[in-house]
Amino acid sequence: MNGPERPSALGSVRDQSGEVTVLGERISQVIARAGVRTPAYVYDLAAVRAAASALVHALEGRGLCCYAIKANGAEPIARAIVEAGCGVDVVSGGELKLALAAGASPSTIVYSGVAKRDEELDLAIGAGIKGIHAESVEEIERIVARARALGRRDVAVGIRINPGVEVDTHAHIATGHDEAKFGVARVDLGRALDHIRGSEGTLRLVGVSSHVGSMLMDEGPYAEGAAVVADLARDVRDQGFALEYVDVGGGFGVPYRDDQFAADGPAFVRAGRAALDAHGLADLPMVIEPGRALVAAYGLLVAQVIQPKRSGDRRWLLVDAGMNDLLRPALYQAHHRIEPLVDQGAPRVSWRVAGPVCESSDDFGTHPLPDPPPPFVVVREAGAYGRSMASTYNQRPIAPEVFVDGTVGRTSVRVVHA
Ligand code: LLP
Repeated sequence: MNGPERPSALGSVRDQSGEVTVLGERISQVIARAGVRTPAYVYDLAAVRAAASALVHALEGRGLCCYAIKANGAEPIARAIVEAGCGVDVVSGGELKLALAAGASPSTIVYSGVAKRDEELDLAIGAGIKGIHAESVEEIERIVARARALGRRDVAVGIRINPGVEVDTHAHIATGHDEAKFGVARVDLGRALDHIRGSEGTLRLVGVSSHVGSMLMDEGPYAEGAAVVADLARDVRDQGFALEYVDVGGGFGVPYRDDQFAADGPAFVRAGRAALDAHGLADLPMVIEPGRALVAAYGLLVAQVIQPKRSGDRRWLLVDAGMNDLLRPALYQAHHRIEPLVDQGAPRVSWRVAGPVCESSDDFGTHPLPDPPPPFVVVREAGAYGRSMASTYNQRPIAPEVFVDGTVGRTSVRVVHA
């Protein structure tokens, strides 16, 4: 035995036996140690922490990385990211509570969302977060009303601007174009500022934010969005608002397919920073809101093969994980690599992998897998928008989550059941 092929690598790798490992632990043993059944999510917490640290480092002390907790709200993950020096980007009262429970200081939490309820606004106002990001002129009026009802002044708000930037990504995850419901349109910015001024100290405008979309594979569109928001931020400042930050959003892409490469997070940070500096905002801290980039590659969904189903020239592989566990393939036609848990080098054939849910869209697509099929498979890059979008559709239980932490040879395993 020479040990795992890449013993110090973070994320999952195969060892000499051909089995997928996390921090040197075989997944089958991790699952057994955790005492759970499949389908189950397995995460490498050390890798999540390292990814968060890398972005914190890239900011060079000139800003804050606010983790978009919608990507994965599991407490161990949120806590690891907060402990690495990140704040949190939330989109609901529930996420705000989660962020606080994970140890985030209110002064590091930003809150976006097009339709925040009064009680959610009250929670954010009461907690005194870094910035409530208003997404419409009407919402600014509502925040003023809630702040007055609570007898609060100086409530820190940001304006999320729709920069009107088209990005090349799936239509469901493009957010910064003119037709999107998100953000205050540039033409409405003047009115938004008037309302904040008119609040006479009830609101304090501290930030300007934007998010152009997800799965950006290079920093071009990100820099474009940042330039638009920086330009507007400078105007806002020139009008006398004492901005404390510019938030250029998240969206750093991850490779789901073999022909994709991970977006270079630090390069995104540098591009955003350069846009701010070029617009005379070198003194302003920059906020970024990555979600997927911190977690996607460090989570696997482990599934058991229930049976093959052959019909004519069709070859289905039916597994015990379904669209209720991982919705992305059904919702965005996303392709997640599926591999045998243990690869013994058998020749692969093409299998159409599907789950047990009574929907034709409960289909993970076509994957090269051995025939006869392996007893277990892993679905890769399932750490982001997997468990957080899971449901109990068809009365299926929410999959347990298993967190492996530590270093090779010294790991701990923790389980969270829904
Ligand atoms: N900030 C804002 C304001 C956002 O709306 C989002 C994502 C993010 C940050 C983080 O984006 P990320 O860095 O994770 O790409 N469920 C979809 C993704 C929806 C993203 C919505 N907003 C998926 O599974 O691809």
